[in-house]
Amino acid sequence: MLNVVVCVSGGGTNLQAIIDGVEKGTIRNTRITGVISNNAGAYALKRAEKAGIPAFCVSPKNFESREAFNRAFLDQLEALKPDLIVLAGFLVILPEKMIEVYRDRIINIHPSLIPSFCGTGYYGLKVHEAALARGVKVTGATVHYVDEGTDTGRILLQKAVEVLEGDTPELLQRRVMEQAEWIILPQAIDQIAAAKG
Ligand code: GRF
Repeated sequence: MLNVVVCVSGGGTNLQAIIDGVEKGTIRNTRITGVISNNAGAYALKRAEKAGIPAFCVSPKNFESREAFNRAFLDQLEALKPDLIVLAGFLVILPEKMIEVYRDRIINIHPSLIPSFCGTGYYGLKVHEAALARGVKVTGATVHYVDEGTDTGRILLQKAVEVLEGDTPELLQRRVMEQAEWIILPQAIDQIAAAKG
């Protein structure tokens, strides 16, 4: 059984794809042991609660220092005993210690075909704005392992999505989510769970 903790900051549609995948059995041998958000208002937390999954908010705003937040965040993670940590739209700089402790056990979903449109400053709609500004005809999403860099870890899965005439960043973001993110993130977790045995 693969114990998974999902870290979120926003709407949680990727989290929902994981929840649905576990429930439908397309993600095998996996249990979501908890969801952690840095944002108390994240709808993702409501999605977790609806699915009966323990949901926690650990926000830097609630701590005197970054070190105190990092410690609390790591303590919460540890308590959930994750085999795998999934960053699904998690907009927090990870504590270095977390990368060390969970090396090769943290994956992230990025809404472009890395190495395009990634790295510092490329998140959410900004990624799609850059893709449209460059005029690419194909974009997509990437699941990669997380290391000390930003979007620099080993690539696990990618899926291409066509850019259409008249696309706005919002239209493109939705298509990348529907046609790529919500497919390859559950797929990656299922593959990792299968490899764990
Ligand atoms: C998605 O676009 C994902 O690619 C990016 O952040 C967004 C999260 O969306 N990492 P949601 O919270 O999963 O709906």
